[in-house]
Amino acid sequence: MDYREYVDNLIKNIPLGIAISDGEGYVKNVNHKLLDMFGYKLEELIERPVSILFKEPEKVNRLLAEKKKIIEEEVFIKAKSNKIRFTLSAYPIDAYSRDIIYIFADIKKERRMANRLSENKAIYTFDKIITQNESFIRLIQFAKEVADSKSTILITGESGTGKEILAQSIHNHSNRRNGPFVAINSGAIPESLIESELFGYEEGAFTGAKKEGQPGKFELAHKGTIFLDEIGEMPYDMQTRLLRVIEEGSVSRIGGLEQKLVDVRIIAASNKNLKEEVEKGNFRKDLFYRLNVLPIEIPPLRERKDDIPLLVDYFMEKLSLRLNKKEILVSKEKIDELVNYNWPGNVRELENYIELSINLGYMPGLGEERISFKPKEIGEYRHEHLTLEYMEKIHILKVLKIFSGNITKSAKALGIGRNTLYRKMDKYGINCSDIEQWSMLERLE
Ligand SMILES: Nc1ncnc2c1ncn2[C@@H]1O[C@H](COP(=O)(O)OP(=O)(O)OP(=O)(O)O)[C@@H](O)[C@H]1O
Ligand SMILES: [Mg+2]
Repeated sequence: MDYREYVDNLIKNIPLGIAISDGEGYVKNVNHKLLDMFGYKLEELIERPVSILFKEPEKVNRLLAEKKKIIEEEVFIKAKSNKIRFTLSAYPIDAYSRDIIYIFADIKKERRMANRLSENKAIYTFDKIITQNESFIRLIQFAKEVADSKSTILITGESGTGKEILAQSIHNHSNRRNGPFVAINSGAIPESLIESELFGYEEGAFTGAKKEGQPGKFELAHKGTIFLDEIGEMPYDMQTRLLRVIEEGSVSRIGGLEQKLVDVRIIAASNKNLKEEVEKGNFRKDLFYRLNVLPIEIPPLRERKDDIPLLVDYFMEKLSLRLNKKEILVSKEKIDELVNYNWPGNVRELENYIELSINLGYMPGLGEERISFKPKEIGEYRHEHLTLEYMEKIHILKVLKIFSGNITKSAKALGIGRNTLYRKMDKYGINCSDIEQWSMLERLE
């Protein structure tokens, strides 16, 4: 192997995308890895301006014009393959020639956007709540107006409608924005721990307690906001204690004698209808009225369908950047389908659906069978789908579909008699002219 061959081989096998251009930015050569990375053919790039590779060519052109080196800059590529985000280093090959070498590498670490709640901090602000719906805009207006008030806010709405991001936005809009935002979810922690979580405990309050004791969420939220999520899940005796805290404005730790004054703004949220819970005797009436001073009810997504196309665009852009994958084109028909769907998991379901689509590279059929929007609900939902009966029903539907609803042919294919097929169809409520059932099948396929 001569030296040149050796170098060629080296460049070919190096796990980086490499391009070389002349001083004007016209591509002279690229390695295989680059073609693989971006999904281009050699002849599509040779002697073309290197800028055709970039989504924002101005940035690269400017750096080249200024003869600056580029060191590990994040760039977006007009790739034909699925990835679009890479790091680029580019600089003159040596002091004598004007040729420039471009080295593309995969982004090292997935930079998860800080969507998660960090320690006692609210990250969401009103400008990140996407809507064009008139009544939702009015709701946000109201929330902004009451942000500074110390009165309690009760946010209700179905799962995934945005209760938590609204609570965070209110805090960040208020004069408490530099104080803590402390969230506690009564539904997510064991009942036996709720009291110590909320109120803290003193040294030696119970076996297993930390030596030095521990402050509760109310104390931690001093001069800030406490977010009582899923308040409907709070045990009845805890509701009594909570009511006392609200009325007295002070807390005492478990095992402690001292009453500490706390300056805390309360925002509570529930996806249950608390009024109904009061009527059923599950929720204290007096606490309900204490919390419900400033009620905010977020409408489900199906009642603000005009937001659906907007949210699709928003999540498509946001998630494709986060996942480092290409956006998917959404046809007019698909938009109609998305608008007509009823989104039981609301915005969270839509967000997850777009994420799934970006990962798949296409938009799959709609429906709960495919989309997970909340682990808890998946558990409940899947249960009936695990039964043999359910599989039998789906299989019968499939076969009927194959034979366009012809009973004789379908029964023969299934290896059963016509009467048996009729009986089973009756049992499962299958009706050949029922389009809804066919579209359910499409979702499963
Ligand atoms: N209007 C909106 N604009 C942008 N993103 C939204 C909007 N509404 C909801 N989301 C997104 O949906 C997700 C769910 O919102 P959030 O957690 O606030 O819902 P929730 O009402 O608290 O649901 P749950 O009752 O299940 O806790 C969030 O991660 C957020 O990204
Ligand atoms: Mg929530």
